[in-house]
Amino acid sequence: MKLFLDTANLDEIRKGAELGIVDGVTTNPSLVAREGRDFHDTILEIASLIDGPVNAEVTTLTKDEMLRDGREYAKWHKNIIVKLPITRDGVAACKVLAGEGIKCNMTLCFSATQALLVAKAGAWCVSPFVGRVDDVAWDGMDLVRQIVFIYEEYDFDTQVLAASLRHPLHVVQCAEAGADIATMPFKVLDSLYNHPLTDKGLKQFLEDWNKAKAEAAEHATKSAGTQPAGAKPASAN
Ligand code: G3P
Repeated sequence: MKLFLDTANLDEIRKGAELGIVDGVTTNPSLVAREGRDFHDTILEIASLIDGPVNAEVTTLTKDEMLRDGREYAKWHKNIIVKLPITRDGVAACKVLAGEGIKCNMTLCFSATQALLVAKAGAWCVSPFVGRVDDVAWDGMDLVRQIVFIYEEYDFDTQVLAASLRHPLHVVQCAEAGADIATMPFKVLDSLYNHPLTDKGLKQFLEDWNKAKAEAAEHATKSAGTQPAGAKPASAN
């Protein structure tokens, strides 16, 4: 399963790049707006930091506008994925863009029927919003499982990109469900590293190591002090 960062914050993306395990980045209009920077410049900076798919979402509603914007974004960088909402116009635009070789991430997916439609339209990936389904007391992970099952059953090439992930268990469950990609905020990615037994074990290893080194040094000092006067060092024999 690939791991994407779901953010437009360049500091977080720099930190993610340093970790060496980030495969791509998703953004959405809310995340970009939060940063208060130019959209085009932000997307290109992200593409310069991460060598993988970078998702740029349209903010238009009609098929023609989405085609215009999608074609424009795709020219910005070879790694751009055009994000389109799953509406009638969005799916129709996806069909055309996919035919032109432009990769589309079909977003705001809340049902298996929507996922089926975008696969038929040739989407590069679909984004079920797990956390937002959980928010209305349904099981977001069930939606991921359903989509993975349907895509496998019919051999669709469209990938399942699980989005709106809020905590580490979501990531584990996505992996178990067979999602192709999981996108998450930096704080969730960062938390995947944490385990108290790793910290405890590492502390113990280093204490044992340093204690043994100190004992060896003390032993060497004592041995040097007990050499008879005028004795040759062992290496000279
Ligand atoms: O990628 C979609 C994601 O950004 C939505 O997350 O937490 O706003 O539901 P959230």
